[in-house]
Amino acid sequence: MQKVKVDLDVRSYSIEIGGKLIPTLGKRCVDLGLGRRCAIITDRIVGRLYAKTAVASLTKAGFEVHVITVDNGEQAKSLKVVAKCYDELASHRLERRSFIVALGGGVVGDLAGFVAATYLRGIPFVQVPTTLLSQVDSSVGGKTGVNLKAGKNLVGAFYQPRLVLCDLDTLRNLPSREYRAGLAEVIKYGIIYDASLFARIERDLPKLLKKDPRTLAEVVARCCEIKADVVGQDETESGLRAILNFGHTIGHAIEAISGYGTYLHGEAISIGQVAAAKISAEQFELPEPDVARIADLFKRAGLPTKINLSPAQRAKLFAAMKVDKKVSAGEVKFVLARKIGAVEFGQKVTTETINRSIEAK
Ligand code: GLY
Repeated sequence: MQKVKVDLDVRSYSIEIGGKLIPTLGKRCVDLGLGRRCAIITDRIVGRLYAKTAVASLTKAGFEVHVITVDNGEQAKSLKVVAKCYDELASHRLERRSFIVALGGGVVGDLAGFVAATYLRGIPFVQVPTTLLSQVDSSVGGKTGVNLKAGKNLVGAFYQPRLVLCDLDTLRNLPSREYRAGLAEVIKYGIIYDASLFARIERDLPKLLKKDPRTLAEVVARCCEIKADVVGQDETESGLRAILNFGHTIGHAIEAISGYGTYLHGEAISIGQVAAAKISAEQFELPEPDVARIADLFKRAGLPTKINLSPAQRAKLFAAMKVDKKVSAGEVKFVLARKIGAVEFGQKVTTETINRSIEAK
């Protein structure tokens, strides 16, 4: 098992990465000194696969467990579902020392984290992410929240979990398309922070695609280390944390205009990262061969790298970029790369440059 620490003073916690970790959940919650009552928030698919093991582990360790199952997909990230969760927590008399376990992917983690952040003004929660994307990104760093009609993640809180358990065995059951989408975030860490991680992914991609346990554990741990390092320096995204949004400005807009669910998040940010790399070559000094390396790696991972847009869709894309949370004073700011492994946030980019970057050639 690999362990990564997120250093945030009294809000510090560990990320544990390895196989067969869900069966240790109960023991780990005892170690944290959590209260006797808890609720697992999960979705139908993940619940069917792992809730029994999680409940057994918690019950064996002396906890009283209630399972809340929500629908699969982005529609579960709503204030309506949040209210339903509050009602269930209250009717099962969860109190201040009680805790929530988020068992699932990014949707469940964001929803359960937000419920934990706000129920009784905040109760502890533990993340048990079951997708590659949530293991390397959304379960770490305390971003929680739900969607509004006006856009994704518009209501939320920074609220750190007490523990993150990344059980890599769960990735065996992950559909290939979702696993590949998670690789888009993995590749991102190489581009924004660590050239040798990028080179390792280029070299070990076949092993990663085969989910080789050792390669996976090392690579997931490195991604978590990078995220922990960034979040440890800028928990609430007043600066540096923005680098984690490399490729996300265009990526989020693609998700928004194509209808959430058409492109998985990882697929949309794959296109977004390739576009950001092209902009970086035009506006910064990212060498052209590095743009090709980046595009090639996403392609080899089975991810899309371009999108065909009609003029009307293009206009919608620009409009969507402008309502993104990352917009400040009406200006869309980009994270751009100087080289693989080093990026800068807060870069202004002209409409013409963005247009050229998403040309589907
Ligand atoms: N997913 C970006 C962040 O956690 O800041």
